[in-house]
Amino acid sequence: MATATNYIGQPTSRVDGRAKVTGEAKYAAEYNVPNLLYGYVVSSEIAKGKITKIDSSGALALPGVLQVFTHENRPRTAWFDRSYRDEIAPPGSPFRPLYDDKVLYSGQPIALVVAEEFEIARYAASLVRVEYEIEPHVTDLNERREEAYEPPEVRSGIPPPAKPRGNAGKAFERAAVRHEAEYLLPTEHHNPMEMFASTVVWESDDKITVYDKTQGAQNCQTYLAGVFGFSKDDVHVISPFVGGAFGSGLRPQYHLFLAGMAARELKRSIKVSLTRQQMFTFGHRPSTIQNVALGAAANGTLEAIMHDAIAETSQFEDYQENVVNWSGALYKCDNTKFTYKLAQLDTYTPIDMRAPGGAEGMYALESAMDELAYTSGIDPLELRLKNYSEKDQNEDKPFSSKELRECYRQGAEKFGWSKRNSQPRSMREGTELIGWGMATGIWEAYQQTSSAKAVLSVDGKLTVSSATADIGTGTYTIMTQIAAETLGLPIDNVIFKLGDSSLPQSPVQGGSWTAATVGSAVKEVCDAVGQKLFKLARDVDGSPLAGAKFADVTFADKQIRLKSDPAQSVSIIEAMRHGDVNVIEEETTTSPETAKQSPYSRHAHSAIFAEVKVDEDFGTIRVTRVVDAVAGGRILNPKTARSQVMGGVVWGIGMALHEESVVDQNFGRFMNHNYAEYHVPVNADVHEIEVIFVEEHDEIVNPLGVKGLGEIGIVGTAAAIANAVYHATGKRVRDLPITLDKLL
Ligand code: MOS
Repeated sequence: MATATNYIGQPTSRVDGRAKVTGEAKYAAEYNVPNLLYGYVVSSEIAKGKITKIDSSGALALPGVLQVFTHENRPRTAWFDRSYRDEIAPPGSPFRPLYDDKVLYSGQPIALVVAEEFEIARYAASLVRVEYEIEPHVTDLNERREEAYEPPEVRSGIPPPAKPRGNAGKAFERAAVRHEAEYLLPTEHHNPMEMFASTVVWESDDKITVYDKTQGAQNCQTYLAGVFGFSKDDVHVISPFVGGAFGSGLRPQYHLFLAGMAARELKRSIKVSLTRQQMFTFGHRPSTIQNVALGAAANGTLEAIMHDAIAETSQFEDYQENVVNWSGALYKCDNTKFTYKLAQLDTYTPIDMRAPGGAEGMYALESAMDELAYTSGIDPLELRLKNYSEKDQNEDKPFSSKELRECYRQGAEKFGWSKRNSQPRSMREGTELIGWGMATGIWEAYQQTSSAKAVLSVDGKLTVSSATADIGTGTYTIMTQIAAETLGLPIDNVIFKLGDSSLPQSPVQGGSWTAATVGSAVKEVCDAVGQKLFKLARDVDGSPLAGAKFADVTFADKQIRLKSDPAQSVSIIEAMRHGDVNVIEEETTTSPETAKQSPYSRHAHSAIFAEVKVDEDFGTIRVTRVVDAVAGGRILNPKTARSQVMGGVVWGIGMALHEESVVDQNFGRFMNHNYAEYHVPVNADVHEIEVIFVEEHDEIVNPLGVKGLGEIGIVGTAAAIANAVYHATGKRVRDLPITLDKLL
């Protein structure tokens, strides 16, 4: 029975929308306290070498400047004496700002100027004189490809390359149809609108409150305690709103370290915010070199898949992703071989960026599949259907659910794929060539452990909380929906709190796992409150629920109702009043049901269809239409879900056509470190995007049946666009972004 308090699956508008558009929502750099100091970071100008001299006297002479921290005068921190890795750190030894005179990458923070005003700090920073002894650097992945190595320690949560099946080399040699090519992807930077900042409030001796831009308040809390030796109880990290992060906020960034260090040393409150240019001085999506070899029978049946990737990492950490395994999980093939290697460059360690590994690996695989389609004369969609896999052969497990066939069908129908003329350069409109391309997407459906707390008061108001983040994904909204529906309360009665290290334990927001992870925790804790309410309701004089079990009732419209006869009910408020209970409080910890989940491979899938129009004379490309059909389990909120996928598709457009962090190899530095020169899609680049959610029921993946949607939208999208560009022009560009110079 539908009731007024059914919220799951409804297109509820963001509960935090008003706060965001009115400016009531505050971000890390917007908190002000009395006597606040400002820190400005000085970045290294060289990529590798030693600081031979650092002269702060000019800066210190300026009125209003309190201190200039460098490696020469920085305070001792607990961290400098022992190893500490944050929750997300890859294997290796994390970069320690101001540790010594060594420069490990261009843009490395080498000093923090602290002043009474931001402008004074910024000006003073320009007066810090630095002399270097320059050592040769390598920042070009291609230069290091021969020295690439298999990482000795596998990064937590990242599978190593899947074991080989059959004999891929031999099968490839014997295949009737073969395609082999190298695909190149550049370094990319996340570029969220909000820049990284920390406001550290010095509360009293050894106690701090920190407003930080982060995807994990508790990760930053543990980090600050770990590196400075604070007691965890004395570090309170607050991050209720995040202006985009896309992975760049998974690890504590150096501004947090510098702000914490300065506050502790000066026993003052301080704000350190980075500039847009400095947003290019930490983690990024690694550049990759990928080789994909596909062998097939004349009818298109895949007989061999080989996928080899080399990705950049820093000199100090082995950052890893799953780039190649998708190629063994998506299509049916008995002869496969995968390798994944790292090459150390003199840059900062890469960090997860929206669908890390999947965005890169699936670009290469899905481009190669398109090339194989042309080589074998089979329609690209037909080729994928022909090689459809009913199980994940990497893990030798069935999928918990996989409605990819339906994605292909509905996506193709909506797009009009059947009207496609398969010949390249065969479709045009005036001076523009029209191209239609498609690709598949796949992303893991993770669930982690999370706690949640629920407090219901006798006035029917419910507060649910968990330390998780909402980096713009809609977490506040979907958690509010789950809680309101579970306890049958009007949505306005429910408040969801997050982004605060003092709230119940929760992992960083990443990997598209928050809906499943925190959602399951919210459901469980609200059910626990429901159990208590139910007991109270049974005890009400003459209760119609007296003989019922918990499974016999449902919560709706502020009532506890008999499922068999909804007219029989007890009001929630009445039950609490009668039992003389003012507040019901529950806290639970929810872990994935491993025994139920592990026999299955759990993934979200998608089919992306793209139309491009390419000006024949100028080579300019417009992505005029994208249809993305997604199988992402149960959709909690079609509005926020659609926005997530649409955002991913827009990024796919950027990946295909715009984004590239250009390195001047002489300086070893990213040169286009601003919004004018680092191109991302703007409104004029984005035309029709249609998102379809195909129905997918999954009772294994988690109790809610949801799969994350934050990342699936970008996976495969760049390939669909690149494939459309080939169809339009007959020109295959295998190094992204496809800029017009590569087409002409
Ligand atoms: Mo995501 S790239 O795990 O924030």
